Amino acid sequence: MTFEKNILCIGAGYVGGPTMAMIAHKCPQYKVTVVDINPDRINAWKSEDLPIYEPGLDEVVTAARERNLFFSTDIEKGIKESDIIFVSVNTPTKTFGEGAGMASDLQYWEKTARQILDNAESSKIIVEKSTLPVRTARAMERILTSRNNHIRFDVVANPEFLAEGTAIRDLENPDRILIGSRETDSGREARNEIVDIYRNWVPEEKIITSNVWSSELSKLVANAFLAQRISSINSISALCEKTQADVAEVSKAVGMDNRIGNKFLNASVGFGGSCFKKDILNLVYLCRHYGLEEVSNYWESVVRINDYQKQRFVLTILEAMFNTLAGKRICLFGFAFKADTGDTRESPAIFITKKLLDEKAVVNITDPKALENAEADLAGHNGNVSFVKDPYEAATGCDAIAVVTEWDIYRNLDYEKIFNSMRKPAFIFDGRNILDYKYLYNIGFNVYPIGKPKLTHFTKTN
Ligand code: NAD
Ligand code: UGA
Repeated sequence: MTFEKNILCIGAGYVGGPTMAMIAHKCPQYKVTVVDINPDRINAWKSEDLPIYEPGLDEVVTAARERNLFFSTDIEKGIKESDIIFVSVNTPTKTFGEGAGMASDLQYWEKTARQILDNAESSKIIVEKSTLPVRTARAMERILTSRNNHIRFDVVANPEFLAEGTAIRDLENPDRILIGSRETDSGREARNEIVDIYRNWVPEEKIITSNVWSSELSKLVANAFLAQRISSINSISALCEKTQADVAEVSKAVGMDNRIGNKFLNASVGFGGSCFKKDILNLVYLCRHYGLEEVSNYWESVVRINDYQKQRFVLTILEAMFNTLAGKRICLFGFAFKADTGDTRESPAIFITKKLLDEKAVVNITDPKALENAEADLAGHNGNVSFVKDPYEAATGCDAIAVVTEWDIYRNLDYEKIFNSMRKPAFIFDGRNILDYKYLYNIGFNVYPIGKPKLTHFTKTN
């Protein structure tokens, strides 16, 4: 069978896999190949047990796999055969040298550029799918044009805005598709080729184009704005706890202003995930690099408030439980950084568990999808921790429950049964404000939500 276009994606992770599966699903006329250096990941993409959990992903992959969607470790062959290459490798925070702890580590990205240059036998469009510092396209172009071999490469920025847990919905019905290119004839031509792909299912008015730098920067700014809203409401949750205001009521009242909007105003134990912190720190680093100290301090405070919120949650547990956790059993409801994913990268649960273990608490962790990752995250950390699939079993014999991930299943458990199986006094710390705390209080729990008045059975005299 001959295909209209040969699309390659380098990097078969949370972005590369689902994004390419959606393109293959919506465009049977294109051949889509996803390659990765990690053979285990590729084998998992070829199996019934996909390497990531994402609602609806199995169906989309199964429908297109081996029809026009292929997974492979043969990167060189993939490069040779492709017209368009999406690059979706990881761009973590640098852990060494200049900019350590802030700047993006671009080594995987640069390796890919060199690999494309070494193997390309015809002209290609290179699409930046990874999130990158603004002006990375220029570095990519410089590498790709370092040999005078008559092969043309056009670099286009097409950042991805999907969120984990809703990736398939976001890909199928995106708020916008952003495609940035050089404002030259060949740049615009390349941009139109990418627009053509999305036109197969995304309405015209949602596909926007820009210059390549705006596109790169918009991705960092979108994540920074989203994270900023969470830090804003989390900072107010601390004030609510001091003043008897209820943060849910405040965010409802504030969010009903059309100009503000009601999304991303849920107070929580802090944001996690592989991108918010990394992308803000990248923005902070860029601003410092350009001498914009005030701007960088402003954005850095979003991360500082997030750290403060995680710390505050642990301190609330410690203070409520009479300032000692040594030997006490605490059950964590959820370890993933959000519901509907098994991903635990930068999950607040990692910080919280380590702090609880440092206090010599015994920690039982339960989560429907993230226990394997949780075990890997905590490997090597000293302390008494166990991983239990069943939430009832995990809570049995515990002094406290801490809700860390907003999985639906935790909303409707039999809390009377759980209360009866726990040591008294029994505590619940709801780091997601998903539980009916008055009901829990009536059962006998001492309840500590985020940014709402606590409900305890202790009186001033006992
Ligand atoms: P990931 O770690 O899940 O996947 C990256 C993959 O790239 C890995 O499987 C790795 O083995 C592979 N890889 C690295 N170097 C390679 C090379 N030289 N050749 C072939 N494969 C290589 O990362 P991710 O979560 O998919 O994120 C990828 C990029 O997308 C990042 O820049 C991230 O900021 C951005 N992003 C992520 C999300 C998300 O929800 N995870 C959303 C939007 C944007
Ligand atoms: C985020 C963005 O939402 C995506 O648009 C972006 O593409 C992606 O980062 C990325 O670049 O990687 P993601 O991190 O997958 O997506 O998930 P979000 O839904 O944004 O949640 C991030 C964190 O914020 C989670 O820990 C979540 O629980 C927390 N959160 C979210 C809150 O604490 N309160 C809220 O109101 C919303």
